[in-house]
Amino acid sequence: MRIIIFGPQGSGKGTQAELIARRHHLPYISTGDIFRYHLKNQTELGKKIGVYINAGKLVSDDLTNEIVKNRIDQPDCAVGFVLDGYPRDQVQFDFLYQLTKIDFVIVIELIDQEAIRRLGGRLACKCGLSYHLDFNPPKKTGVCDRCGHALFKRDDDQLEAIKKRLAIYHQETEPIFAAYLKDGILYHIDGSKSIEEVYQQIEKIIHQNS
Ligand code: AP5
Ligand code: MG
Repeated sequence: MRIIIFGPQGSGKGTQAELIARRHHLPYISTGDIFRYHLKNQTELGKKIGVYINAGKLVSDDLTNEIVKNRIDQPDCAVGFVLDGYPRDQVQFDFLYQLTKIDFVIVIELIDQEAIRRLGGRLACKCGLSYHLDFNPPKKTGVCDRCGHALFKRDDDQLEAIKKRLAIYHQETEPIFAAYLKDGILYHIDGSKSIEEVYQQIEKIIHQNS
């Protein structure tokens, strides 16, 4: 099963993608997490992309497409995958379209105001899990339940960078939904509900259409 999760920043893409991947035993691929790994470890790639990520801008399509292709080509993706944060514009969409078939495209709907409110309370872990101070707190303050690493606030969770990311989502990402709609694989869900309720909406779609 190959799934893409879309939604505005803060809608819970990462939260839901990780849950689907864990419960369906699929690899979870987040371009944002891959980029943050390179940024933190100051790899050659990390040195090039920091300026874009922290300002909320997109990394170049060439770099992003290559990273996704390399990841999808790994043997563990033979069973499928859950993609979060890719494709984000027409160039990436075209690249992925000729690379592989997709089964489900889920769009988590949330108004910008609520998305901004959620990101204000987010705590991230380098293993990819996201927590929230009020809605999804870790069991032990400041520590990831799964891997035990210290949680941190993302550098791009500043109001200016959040607004930039939301604007790019509306201008560059939303227009690519039309092609998935035409293919009959696009599903919109209500992201304003609790994490488990949002997840159940996704499960229902997968169950009814598999
Ligand atoms: P990326 O890491 O993908 O960030 P993003 O798109 O800005 O999305 P977020 O991670 O902020 O939001 P989310 O929807 O995953 O929310 P989450 O689940 O954490 O990308 C970062 C950057 O990398 C980009 O800006 C760009 O520079 C670069 N990049 C990445 N992909 C790229 C690409 N394809 N091309 C070019 N550049 C790329 O949830 C948010 C908060 O809400 C959390 O605190 C969570 O606990 C909480 N929450 C979640 N669900 C609920 C709920 N139902 N109720 C209450 N709280 C909830
Ligand atoms: Mg995310």
